[in-house]
Amino acid sequence: MLRTDTPVTVHRKDYTPPAFAFEHVDLVLELDPARTVVTNTLRFTRQAPGPLVLAGEELELVGVSLDGKPLADARQAADCLTLPELPAQGTLEIVTACQPAANTSLSGLYVSNGNFFTQCEAEGFRKITYYLDRPDVMSTFRVTLRAQRAAYPVLLSNGNLVSERELPDGRHEAVWEDPFKKPAYLFALVAGKLECIEERIVSASGKEKLLQVWVEPQDLPKTRHAMDSLIHSIRWDERRFGLELDLDRFMIVAVGDFNMGAMENKGLNIFNTKYVLANAQTATDADFGNIESVVGHEYFHNWTGNRVTCRDWFQLSLKEGLTVFRDQEFSADMMGSESGRAVKRIEDVRVLRQVQFPEDAGPMAHPVRPDSYEEINNFYTVTVYEKGAEVVRMYQTLLGRDGFRKGMDLYFQRHDGQAVTCDDFRAAMADANGRDLTRFGRWYSQAGTPVVAVRTAWDGADGSLTLTLSQSCPKVGIETHPGTPDKLPFHIPFALGLLDADGADLPLQLAGEHQPGATTRVLDFTEAEQSFRFINLPRGAEPPLPSLLRDFSAPVIVDAEYSEAQLTFLLAHDSDPFNRWEAGQRLTTRALLQLVADSQAGRELKLDPALVAALRTVLNDQQLSPAFREQALTLPAEAYLAERMGVADPAAIHRARQFMREALARALQADWLAAFEANATPGEYSPDAVSSGKRALRNLALGYLADSGDAAMQALAGAQYQSADNMTDRSAALSALVNTFAPGREAALADFYQRFEQDALVIDKWFALQGMQRGTVGPQGSHAGKHTIDTVRALMQHPAFNLRNPNRARSLIFSFCAANPAQFHAEDGSGYAFWAEQVLALDAINPQVASRLARVMDRWQKYALPLRDRMRAALEQVAAASDLSRDVREIVSKALAP
Ligand code: TRP
Ligand code: ZN
Repeated sequence: MLRTDTPVTVHRKDYTPPAFAFEHVDLVLELDPARTVVTNTLRFTRQAPGPLVLAGEELELVGVSLDGKPLADARQAADCLTLPELPAQGTLEIVTACQPAANTSLSGLYVSNGNFFTQCEAEGFRKITYYLDRPDVMSTFRVTLRAQRAAYPVLLSNGNLVSERELPDGRHEAVWEDPFKKPAYLFALVAGKLECIEERIVSASGKEKLLQVWVEPQDLPKTRHAMDSLIHSIRWDERRFGLELDLDRFMIVAVGDFNMGAMENKGLNIFNTKYVLANAQTATDADFGNIESVVGHEYFHNWTGNRVTCRDWFQLSLKEGLTVFRDQEFSADMMGSESGRAVKRIEDVRVLRQVQFPEDAGPMAHPVRPDSYEEINNFYTVTVYEKGAEVVRMYQTLLGRDGFRKGMDLYFQRHDGQAVTCDDFRAAMADANGRDLTRFGRWYSQAGTPVVAVRTAWDGADGSLTLTLSQSCPKVGIETHPGTPDKLPFHIPFALGLLDADGADLPLQLAGEHQPGATTRVLDFTEAEQSFRFINLPRGAEPPLPSLLRDFSAPVIVDAEYSEAQLTFLLAHDSDPFNRWEAGQRLTTRALLQLVADSQAGRELKLDPALVAALRTVLNDQQLSPAFREQALTLPAEAYLAERMGVADPAAIHRARQFMREALARALQADWLAAFEANATPGEYSPDAVSSGKRALRNLALGYLADSGDAAMQALAGAQYQSADNMTDRSAALSALVNTFAPGREAALADFYQRFEQDALVIDKWFALQGMQRGTVGPQGSHAGKHTIDTVRALMQHPAFNLRNPNRARSLIFSFCAANPAQFHAEDGSGYAFWAEQVLALDAINPQVASRLARVMDRWQKYALPLRDRMRAALEQVAAASDLSRDVREIVSKALAP
């Protein structure tokens, strides 16, 4: 690791093209866990005067030569190798060694469970050899892997296998060639004892392709779903975007130690096992869905990321925002119905609001295309990914599906084989459609979540409704520094409809238009304030009811003064399913925030019977899919409610939300029971959208029923735990038992552990469930009760716990610190002390994982006293530690910045 006390900030405005081009790279790796020797032979051409400065970290330099002669004037520093006097063209040979078994950062070349893997994005290649490790240096690669055959029978790299042979002393060799030019971050190799399932398919243009999914031998029976997801992804990209697989062979490899979800290395995607391995007994419906979406995501990168890549890392959203948008659309299409698409959209917006909106309001707020960073790994964020996907979605909303496709076609026509910018993408969209998207560019340069206020004026005599929209987005995070320019209005595609008194959609006609058009209209809202007058509406005293921002057409907060009656009406009638859900969320959020205030003031908590009635109607509406009803009856998360408060009070939020759950459990007990019974899924398990929707509603009902406190209802959870034939039902039942401290809880936890002891991903669930478990809320000591921190600390000592494995660390530590707000924010600061300890312990092993955990404290300034002071103290404690990684230092120093 490179540790430094003087942080270096990299600025987007400082970009300069590389001084050298590399035409071809030949790598020979003598794989050995203790010391791997790498011979890197590269053909270069000078493009600008000056030395060649190659990046390298933790490398032992064995030798450098130019055109066969040793180079005497090469200068090695901690993080680079400088070659001062190179000719215009030539061939360099650089020999280095690295230590894969000692590499716990999981970046570069490392060993996991005895096998070799690489992770090079963003800057891991420099831990393998000296290189111009930047995405705008693209070259063809030929890779020779040599290793002991007995320990490493399988040797894989990018592209096509060109030869294999035996070597003396039990070693063997494989040579791979990737015909496509690529940046170093897409390089990969895998070596070890692995096995695969394979399929041969014929692509749209008639070429045969070999598809493989590689795993450890015992995991082979869990690979079918990943393979099916890959085939579906290939077909979808052919159909929707006319994009074909360009290699003869495409491989996915699963590894148990991995920092992120998966990686799109050319032709050799490497995945966290969590996003590959599944069967009915061990994976939930959510796991099956995530595998489909991550397999899709990495496959789609082959065009959006690999064939066209990023000029520099500030452009990360060029590939990530676009590819997330593509995987979201893929998953939505795979749902197989309009209502299924809406459920997928709701899930995506939930994540955006719960995670991205807070990021965009805190100390790490940054535009989709950031202007500076200290450590690029800290900028693989929900803003770059999920808000970036919303930005891409807005092009499609503005240009239509066909217009968007024209833009994509032009983008590939212009930029195939290049490293480009977000502006290039926007220009392709604009030029292909003859549209001016200049103002739209502000979505890339300005941070923050815009708030759109809506006012209406109704003229009943001539049937016209004037809608006035105004937008605001104050400076946030880095934008508040002196000298930053003022913010300008965003180009917001604002979709809306108008409902008549019966709840039917009205045809929409704007003043100046000759006839009415569709019933959903996308307004081009581009100024600070703008009015739109709809005419020829049915005259009368009652104005039509607006349904605003249909399908969440832009990543903004809509500030509208709906009455409870209007929201209940929208919940019952809106033709836009997203907005039906949204109306329900607005109703429950409003009620919950009132309960929070009541709880803080010591008032008695009461639930409005009108809200109960509205939710009962939705729960029992057989016209709505079970999956949709489950979404509608899931209360807003505690983290979302915290964001909606001026000063967050996690204990009061938890009390309010728990009160509402228990009140709804009792008031609707018969309805929950009916939903529980009506949504059983007998027969063989299938993760399809309809079956998983039924299980979702059934298990939501089970959770509510258990929360009623009724012993007979808790017994239902016990029975389901025992009889379940799939992980979705079994883990939902276990979670209900764990959180209600019901009888049978300890026995079920013990049974679960024993049953799945051999399955790391399931044991992760066992830890996670306990990290998220409820406990007593209030000052420690003054109440007799359970505090989750005690359970978490005890589990840290469990023989199966291991800080070095990121999935395991996340399962216990992150689920407690990031997904259990009421317990983490215990008033005595015990959660914060634990956080500081774990950030420091992880930082010594794996800075990327440590800095993710560090971000849990981002919003410390939002919390009520004494929490806020205790959070700052914990941040200061971490900031004061010596030898912090650049990753963690950036996060804590930005959190503490005045
Ligand atoms: N490009 C990967 C993706 O989104 C992200 C990724 C995987 C990554 N592993 C990483 C990013 C390690 C940084 C570091 O598909
Ligand atoms: Zn990606």
